Amino acid sequence: METQVITRSQELINLEDKYGAHNYHPLPVVLEKGNGVHVWDVEGKKYYDFLSAYSAVNQGHCHPKIIGALNEQASKLTLTSRAFYNSELGPYEKYVTEYFGYDKVLPMNSGAEADETALKIARRWGYDKKGIPENQAKIIVCDGNFHGRTITIISMSTDPDSFKGFGPYTPGFEVVKYNDIESLEKALDDPNVAGFLVEPIQGEAGVYVPDDGYLKKAYDLCKAKNVLFIADEVQTGIARTGKLLACEHEGVRPDVLILGKALSGGVFPVSAVLADDDVMLVIKPGEHGSTYGGNPLACAVAKAALEVVEEEKLAERAEYLGNIFREELKKLDNPLIELVRGKGLLNAIVIKPTNGKEAWDVCIKMAENGLIAKPTHQHIIRFAPPLVITEEEIYDAVSIISKSLDEVLA
Ligand SMILES: Cc1ncc(COP(=O)(O)O)c(C=O)c1O
Repeated sequence: METQVITRSQELINLEDKYGAHNYHPLPVVLEKGNGVHVWDVEGKKYYDFLSAYSAVNQGHCHPKIIGALNEQASKLTLTSRAFYNSELGPYEKYVTEYFGYDKVLPMNSGAEADETALKIARRWGYDKKGIPENQAKIIVCDGNFHGRTITIISMSTDPDSFKGFGPYTPGFEVVKYNDIESLEKALDDPNVAGFLVEPIQGEAGVYVPDDGYLKKAYDLCKAKNVLFIADEVQTGIARTGKLLACEHEGVRPDVLILGKALSGGVFPVSAVLADDDVMLVIKPGEHGSTYGGNPLACAVAKAALEVVEEEKLAERAEYLGNIFREELKKLDNPLIELVRGKGLLNAIVIKPTNGKEAWDVCIKMAENGLIAKPTHQHIIRFAPPLVITEEEIYDAVSIISKSLDEVLA
């Protein structure tokens, strides 16, 4: 009798398929270990990680300093809730506000929660400070946006995969064209606009980099109309694009700054909203919060994660290595490559389907060759390695990408 042998990877994939909700479509790679820029699957195969958990692992997998902070704090105190003070929150709040240059921080956990928090702050500011009539506040958002998965956030989405079939939707949003100053200017004519929420580079949409000057002009228009400029830097922030914040490329300081992902180096869900007193203090005790928001473990981890960004000059690395990476990708002569774009180490290639092969096939081939990345929107592959990657590893990765593109068409 023939017995069918299945791999450990397949066994684990089958378990997820049988017992987990089918809300993701992962690449068939089962990871169990990570160190710096590398991850290993359950069969022991080693890969370059070119997704970094959607830019959460900027500091590299299992960074010893961040894991050290986690372990030390985990054996001392992990959660108090905000019903009481804790020894880590105050020092972390001082550190993170000085680090990014704001008066106050409001700590949360996921990126989506931080976005929701920013929306609440902006609406309340609109009523209390700008004098918008009750329940009339509007937030302007951009087409192609991605800010998370809650009902309110998908109410702002223009991607049917995100919003379709989940109505009714939260009102109070107006969508303008991304990277189009005229449509923003028109929408800002409405005196009931409280905020403009924007990603400095649209990551999930496919790494869309707006024209130079767009963010600055948008910021100036917001100032002229007394509207809060709210930057969602959950994916672009914390050194990913070659500056600490992507808004810095245009000298823009957002009124409300949303951070998540790499705020903990991929170790723990930590997010935050930063703003100055005149904005942040519109929220009063009991009006917003989260049981885990500002927990001592998160504070210790986030502080260590931010220290690593500074100590290892990750923004400078991203800037320098990103230029090399894009230059090398642009040299590749393969009909599958339609376009290369990005900033720092947040990059993408747009794939032109050729001979029936598309982005997914390229990602499968790259995984076989030891580099993992994931398609976004079918025809785009995002490349976002941990920022601790070396120059030599960048060249090695490009050669894997090049070989995989050739092999897909062979
Ligand atoms: C710009 C942006 N905002 C918000 C989020 C949501 O973050 P989370 O998945 O932690 O809720 C993401 C996630 O990809 C993002 O890219």
